[in-house]
Amino acid sequence: MASLSEEIESVRLSADSALESVTTASALEAWRITHLGASGSLKSIMARLKDAPREEKPLLGKLLNELKQHLECEFETRKLLTAATLAEPSIDLTEPGERLGQGRRHILSRTIDEIVDVFGRMGFSVADGPEIEDEWHNFTALNIPEGHPARDATDNFYMGDEAGVKRLLRTQTSTVQIRAMESQPLPLKVVAVGRVYRPDTHDATHFSMFHQIEGLCIDRTLSMVDLKTALLQFARSYFGPEAEVRMRPSFFPFTEPSAEVDMKMHIRGQWQWVEIGGCGMVDPNVLTAVGIDPEQWRGYAFGLGIERIAMRRYGISDIRLLFENDARFLRQF
Ligand code: DAH
Repeated sequence: MASLSEEIESVRLSADSALESVTTASALEAWRITHLGASGSLKSIMARLKDAPREEKPLLGKLLNELKQHLECEFETRKLLTAATLAEPSIDLTEPGERLGQGRRHILSRTIDEIVDVFGRMGFSVADGPEIEDEWHNFTALNIPEGHPARDATDNFYMGDEAGVKRLLRTQTSTVQIRAMESQPLPLKVVAVGRVYRPDTHDATHFSMFHQIEGLCIDRTLSMVDLKTALLQFARSYFGPEAEVRMRPSFFPFTEPSAEVDMKMHIRGQWQWVEIGGCGMVDPNVLTAVGIDPEQWRGYAFGLGIERIAMRRYGISDIRLLFENDARFLRQF
């Protein structure tokens, strides 16, 4: 019969070789029960120490202790390995899936699309211009001369010169009026939508970037009546047949006469006047700046704030919500 010390060695060998084929957490647990469990091979071989001859006990005790340490150490090592690389497949194909949130267009993008669509049906085509502009398009051609307070460094994001030309982030989409007149044949009927930038301190109604829609119409015979008709037609298509437009005399360097535009819109059960932008007849100086004869051509223009429209229409009280991209807010629209 094999001596106890040989049996200790054979327990070690068979435990080691069984561990070789363990590749899953459950197989490892089965191995632990077989070898380290309450009635496992280690416990039963240890129980036999008491029957060993007295003089062999110190050596056998030492061997058993080493076996115990060896098996425990092997188990711990294997456990780490199993957790890291040999884990059971973590995909349970029978588990109900997680619902993926359905994406949607940002409320501002949708508002822009809807507004452009209305103007498109009214015969306006879409014009475009850069967000980084030169002083000519942002100021000079728009009848805002050098030294005008609107050019102050504190009211503009200047970006430094390029080939001696001062650049800035455009403060208004009126720049696209100039670009359209420079590049397109007359008569002209365009809208331009886009971002504009002003160094405002952020609060509920101010943000350093926002959106405007600009309209420009140049033709032989145009008057304030055509301007008001266009704005009213837009208001009724967009806000509903009972919407109204009000003009209040104002001043803009690039229009004469100029007016602030209010629209009466239906907001949560009530019709309310909301100030949404400016408008006027294109100033002869602006036409002259781009080589159009003001004796032959006339124009009207308007610029409306997109955020203003969207915020009032959807009851959004803080402009910052539109740019924080918090899905909980955006999901509501
Ligand atoms: N550009 C003006 C602004 O940002 C708005 C504006 C006023 C645009 C009158 C126009 C206009 O086209 O005719 O405050």
